[in-house]
Amino acid sequence: MQNVKTPKKLIEVALPLDDINAASAREKSIRHGHPSTLHLWWARRPLAAARAVIFAQMVNDPGGDRGYAPGMTKAQAQLERERLFGIMRRLVTWENTNDGTVLAEARAEIIKSWVEICEQNKSHPQARELFAPARLPAFHDPFAGGGALPLEAQRLGLESFASDLNPVPVLINKAMIEIPPIFAGRRPVGDPLPSDQQMDLSENWAGTAGFAADVRRYGEWVRSQALECIGHLYPSIDLPSELGRGKATVIAWIWARTVRSPNPAFGHAEVPLASTFILASKPGKEAYVEPVVDGDSYRFEIRSGKPPASAKSGTKVPGKGSGFVCILSNTSIDGKYIKEEAQAGRMGVKLLAIVAEGQRGRIYLPPSEEHEKTALQAKPEWVPTQELVGKARDQMPLYGMNTFGDLFTSRQAATLSTFSDLIHKSRQKIAVDAAAAGMDDDPTPLRDGGRGAVAYAEAISVYLAFIVEKMAETHSSLCTWSNAPKNELVVSTFRRQAIAMTWDFAESNPFARSSGSVEKITEAICRVLPTSIPASASGSSSQANAQAQSITAGKVVSTDPPYYDNICYADLSDFFYVWLRRTLRPVFPDLFATLSVPKLEELVASPYREDLKGQAEEYFLSGMTSGMRQLAKQAHPAFPTTIYYAFKQSDTTDLGTGNTGWETFLEAVLQAGFAITGTWPIRTERDARSIGIGANALASSIVLVCRQREANAPSISRREFLRELKEQLAEAIEVMIGGSEGVSPVAPVDLAQAVIGPGMGIFSKYAAVLEADGTEMTVHTALTLINRMLVEGEDDFDSDTQFCMSWFDEQGWAAGDFGKADVLARAKGTSVERVRQAGVALASSGKVKLLKPLEYPSDWLPEKDNNTPVWEALHQLIRALRAHGEAAAGSLLARMPQRAEPIRNLAYRLYTLCERKGWAEDARAYNELITSWASIDAASHEKGHIGSQADLDI
Ligand SMILES: C[S@@+](CC[C@H](N)C(=O)[O-])C[C@H]1O[C@@H](n2cnc3c(N)ncnc32)[C@H](O)[C@@H]1O
Repeated sequence: MQNVKTPKKLIEVALPLDDINAASAREKSIRHGHPSTLHLWWARRPLAAARAVIFAQMVNDPGGDRGYAPGMTKAQAQLERERLFGIMRRLVTWENTNDGTVLAEARAEIIKSWVEICEQNKSHPQARELFAPARLPAFHDPFAGGGALPLEAQRLGLESFASDLNPVPVLINKAMIEIPPIFAGRRPVGDPLPSDQQMDLSENWAGTAGFAADVRRYGEWVRSQALECIGHLYPSIDLPSELGRGKATVIAWIWARTVRSPNPAFGHAEVPLASTFILASKPGKEAYVEPVVDGDSYRFEIRSGKPPASAKSGTKVPGKGSGFVCILSNTSIDGKYIKEEAQAGRMGVKLLAIVAEGQRGRIYLPPSEEHEKTALQAKPEWVPTQELVGKARDQMPLYGMNTFGDLFTSRQAATLSTFSDLIHKSRQKIAVDAAAAGMDDDPTPLRDGGRGAVAYAEAISVYLAFIVEKMAETHSSLCTWSNAPKNELVVSTFRRQAIAMTWDFAESNPFARSSGSVEKITEAICRVLPTSIPASASGSSSQANAQAQSITAGKVVSTDPPYYDNICYADLSDFFYVWLRRTLRPVFPDLFATLSVPKLEELVASPYREDLKGQAEEYFLSGMTSGMRQLAKQAHPAFPTTIYYAFKQSDTTDLGTGNTGWETFLEAVLQAGFAITGTWPIRTERDARSIGIGANALASSIVLVCRQREANAPSISRREFLRELKEQLAEAIEVMIGGSEGVSPVAPVDLAQAVIGPGMGIFSKYAAVLEADGTEMTVHTALTLINRMLVEGEDDFDSDTQFCMSWFDEQGWAAGDFGKADVLARAKGTSVERVRQAGVALASSGKVKLLKPLEYPSDWLPEKDNNTPVWEALHQLIRALRAHGEAAAGSLLARMPQRAEPIRNLAYRLYTLCERKGWAEDARAYNELITSWASIDAASHEKGHIGSQADLDI
């Protein structure tokens, strides 16, 4: 591309990371109206992060290329940046998701930057197509998944394109960005529901309100029709006299799978495999199943009150594994026997308990023979026969379940297929109603650009199909009953990213009013539309393999590709696809042409794919490189491309974030011709302080900011690379941990990831870094060198502190050999005696050991101590913080204000060291100090600084 003038974007300079992270974390707990409630998809990015990243990728940094724009001082540029951060802070707040004023402000800023770019490039030979000020570039995400990124681009005013290999997310994106703008602003056409009639007649049908009302109305139509067809499969239950008699609606039937007793004397009996007998564990309201054995038969009774300890594990042998005992003979039933029985078609089910709706909460009742019979006699019209493959095949075939149909009871399959059939029927009804309500009677289908009654009916049926999808999720025989105090409910199929066996399962009543009921599901889906779907600029979603697509041409790209071997989307999503295909094939025949989701081209280093055995890494690298190349080649040249990569905790090694997936991914990005101009750790967990370095400690994902590498980029030697790293990385780390003006400092847990940005920025701007033997340096080596800089840093601490750092690195808090300590101390320019006198170490009986923070004296006054290594000051602060909180630490800091920066730097360094060593407890202490730093600093100012200068020995 010839000479495009492209000012630096905000995302290449600074971000209000704390605010983005806080909003992203908060979003996790928002369910009502969040797009994720439309349809399950795995590894969704938070909308707040997606919105902030795209905004900062579109808006010019006020500083310009040389630190500040011509005519603007550095301070003015910073002020302007702070104004943009203000917009971003409002923009990421969940409550502002569809706030017209906030969005207008953000869109105006994007347009302003765009006009500036067009002005700069007005003499470009392709100015008319690439730089038309009145036409913002469109957006594309080629790995769209659950659609957070295309949705947020649309919200920011860009025409938005989503594509994915998998038909399920293609459809989710149609429902989020393609369909809503087409039918926005219309009155609903369906018969009002009783609840609608209470509404104001002058109802405002702006945005998706009218469309959502029709989804609700036809959802109710489908539900009432289904009740007529299959209501008899879900009988109510007679209450016993102690519960007031009468009938109660059943919420769920709880079943246990069964096998024949392995004891020959009881070989004729089917015995239950129940992993628990507890039904409700809320203190004071406990309920449990008590099996009553009578000779060679048994029955289940329900008891209230504190359950016996044995109830917790049902008939299961406590602990891991799949061992049970026969309820009749106490004979053990091992996993091998269960599998053999199941594979021979001899695994059955037995009703354990019935949960009904009571006046004041759940009622637990014993199984009824009639109810058991009703359920087992159900005859489905249709059952999915597609085989489980790959990751979905992991467990279930061991238990004789080989097809998706096997994951549902016959009653569940009958219900799902009835709803699916009724949605076909509803399309005809909606089209007739729409035409009668004055909509164009145009027969053109939605897929061919239809905008009339037929297309409208098809569009509504997409959301009705999502009701069936949610039902499949909560109406399979893999759903469990949660007996948790606050959650006595049916838990959905996908408790994790897998299709996992359950011994006992809960079958919901779709016609009840609890979670999993059609009424609740419909409401949740309808709520998403007006709450979080913008329905503004136009959108388009299509099926495309990211390795060979041309949709990106001239568009701005932000994308979130699959993470190596993390999730086998295609294998798992067949669970949904089989029902979607049955319900929507006439609407999207091409999208649902194949019997199951395409798998071969999916970019996952899947350990489950036979054809990839031993080659998964190469497959991922070459496929991802092709995908990335499409982006580097086609994306709009005036904007950086942003790419997300999500980490698992297990990705952490002593290289910081080094792991096969991450390195392979970076390799692909660089091989594709991208240079990295920034990295931002995005955290979706709640609070860095409470996390430590246990599970989920790392920022959940990292956003890479990439630009096409200069075509004539030179190669450099390893030595030159190291020199540049040393020169630039130290300064970059300083900025990150100090928090350059207006920017919050990077949390210690994120530093190893954040530093990859500037480090890889240096590595990736060259065509190659050449090793002494002429070979090209690998990403692995580059990452190792970058990380080493982080741990080693510049040795600018006092010599006692340097000794302590090295001794700590070797010994931790344990005592070590005096001789060794002595040699080390000399090398650092101090002595063991001096360090001991400084009060940071104990030396006796030929051993030397560092004091732990809580071993330091609590009456220490820095202004009275004329030998205070930074090490001592830091650990005294940690002592004060841990023992008495931020105010006490602040008071201490107020007595040594000039120590603040070295203390903080040392805390970062020690945090990084502890993290490498896996010393979680110690890392947490340093992390706590840094994350509390702002409050400690504020407390120190409140106290008033004293004893500054001179008397301290830095
Ligand atoms: C990490 S997910 C995207 C999640 C999304 N950003 C969200 O917020 O929900 C990655 C997506 O890449 C898709 N994918 C995998 N291989 C692909 C390929 N070859 N072409 C296009 N999409 C692919 C998967 O189907 C999956 O939806």
